[in-house]
Amino acid sequence: MENFHVMKHPLIEHKLTILRNKETGTKDFRDLINEVARLLAYEVSRDLPLEDIEIETPLGKTTQKALTGKKVVIAPILRAGLGMVDGILDLIPAARVGHVGLYRDEETMEPVEYFVKMPNDIENRHMYVVDPMLATGGSAIAAIDSVIERGAKPENIKFICIVAAPEGVKALNEAHPEVQIFTAALDEKLDENAYIFPGLGDAGDRLFGTL
Ligand code: PRP
Ligand code: URA
Repeated sequence: MENFHVMKHPLIEHKLTILRNKETGTKDFRDLINEVARLLAYEVSRDLPLEDIEIETPLGKTTQKALTGKKVVIAPILRAGLGMVDGILDLIPAARVGHVGLYRDEETMEPVEYFVKMPNDIENRHMYVVDPMLATGGSAIAAIDSVIERGAKPENIKFICIVAAPEGVKALNEAHPEVQIFTAALDEKLDENAYIFPGLGDAGDRLFGTL
């Protein structure tokens, strides 16, 4: 699949193993989600455009590269997406943050939207929609529908997650074929409760200690 990328890297794989371990506590889990998000963002931002600018070093004038054009918006899907924001901001401190509040209805597994707040002129920005888990894909699709409705251009949207299920990747790719999907791992399957197996459990609960 052209728009789907599994970001394999020894540091990512090692940190992911600790995240998956049920013995890992809230503080370590939170730190590691941010660390993995930071490593993913390094790769995801590889295509940000540069322009030539003139500066003066202590030795004289020179033309050098600087980021140009559209600025980045990080759009975490609440709650668990919040856990990835600081890690990405470490690399892209000028990014804006827009929030998409969604939860999965426990009966239907359908996403329910309860809050959206985006920065202005999102049509001119790169949009990184972030959530550690891509399970059925319902939340990611709804969040992306929501930012597109508010003006984001599908070709400027990237979805960044940490663990994906094949079912979610397929559903998201079918719903939004222009959106690039980046994940640290592609797991085996969804279980009967639509949890990713082997996965890492409920990311929001593990991040915020609400187990
Ligand atoms: C989790 C997760 C995703 C969603 C993934 O959130 O953080 O947003 O489920 O599942 P899907 O791909 O099947 O939609 P949850 O609904 O548990 O909300 P929370 O982050 O507030 O705990
Ligand atoms: N949401 C989670 O937090 N974990 C899963 O495995 C699936 C959805």
